[in-house]
Amino acid sequence: QNPPDQMITEPRPWSTSLGNPVAFHPYGQPSKYEVNLQRRQSPGLTAVPQASVAFSPLQGMFGIITANGLHFERHHQGWVDVDPTEHRFMINGMVKNPKVYTMDDLMRLPSVSRMHFIECGANTAMEWGNVAVPTVQYTHGMLSCCEFTGVPLKYLLQDCGADFKNAQFILAEGNDGSSETRTISMARAMDDVIVAWGMNGEMLRPENGYPLRLVVPGVQGVSWVKWLRRIEVGDKPWNAKDETLGYVDHMPDGTLRQYTSIQECKSVITSPSGGQALLSKGFYNITGLAWSGRGKIKQVDISVDGGRNWKTATLNTPILDKCLTRFNFAWNWDGSPAILQSRAVDETGYVQPTKSQLVAVRGTRSIYHNNAIQSWKVAESGEVFNVHVE
Ligand code: MTE
Repeated sequence: QNPPDQMITEPRPWSTSLGNPVAFHPYGQPSKYEVNLQRRQSPGLTAVPQASVAFSPLQGMFGIITANGLHFERHHQGWVDVDPTEHRFMINGMVKNPKVYTMDDLMRLPSVSRMHFIECGANTAMEWGNVAVPTVQYTHGMLSCCEFTGVPLKYLLQDCGADFKNAQFILAEGNDGSSETRTISMARAMDDVIVAWGMNGEMLRPENGYPLRLVVPGVQGVSWVKWLRRIEVGDKPWNAKDETLGYVDHMPDGTLRQYTSIQECKSVITSPSGGQALLSKGFYNITGLAWSGRGKIKQVDISVDGGRNWKTATLNTPILDKCLTRFNFAWNWDGSPAILQSRAVDETGYVQPTKSQLVAVRGTRSIYHNNAIQSWKVAESGEVFNVHVE
């Protein structure tokens, strides 16, 4: 017979003492036991921490919504905490009535709330060549998903009398020191773009653009301009620094591919994933995330033998447009080495490519838009490693 479990037989302090008072933390905090679940920098990745990335801990997150304190961060010149009473948002250029809006002006307008993923175009960038980083936090953690609240950009462009006949583009500009500006087509601006202040039911966090950011569903994160202060309406792309020097794809024939904004269909197993360890043989729920910049996820298939055989995973609801979708797959580990992979298909029929399919088209000199199938090797010891499977 097993000795009695003292966690049951011995009174614990939390059941024999008075608890803490209400509003002890006026803004709620995670449990101290969850202290390791943090966004993290990749040591040595960037020269300075202001022009850098903090990755979301995908391995420890549930469902599809990213907690605001765990949203990834990508700044070109540090984050700023803008006084909302001093913030102004201007629309100018090819408009009949150029306008300046205060936050109060914007927040009295009818708003929408929609759940969307945001992925930096450079997510998974380190994996183009060899295996570079050990965990899903670093391979895929420039990815988050929130409910964003704001006013559709379409209404504001109409409010200013944009010249819809001749104008074909807008330029979005932020209020930080990075001079980060991005061209967006008028067709997209009039579709589902939001001038947003809300993130998961509260104001945006300063790191994510407080008090105002552009939400450009399905498009790479760089176009989601933070601390949004101006939109100019024009008739040609601006070819700004982040559209010419950066955020272009180096193709194998030496050409540069520009204005590749859509985040194509992609998925990743978040557990079991690199850096984790399976304790013993038996049942494991393989779980992860799938997303597509072109719409909804239709199907996710799982392989446990490095891509030889595939079986369909269960998709959790809701399955939303340009939003993360959570998948689950029941697996019995027999203790032998295994290679776990997920492959997503979106509603357009696009199938997430293998690494060799992607490299055949794109080569290995790119930084952006690596949406290849990710492989995790489970060793006999139960340890899980990042591996590349051709
Ligand atoms: N907007 C401004 N004004 N300044 C920036 O540095 N970084 C961009 C974009 N918007 C940036 C910006 C990049 S490259 C990305 S991937 C996303 O914001 C990251 O958004 P997040 O920090 O909220 O995750």
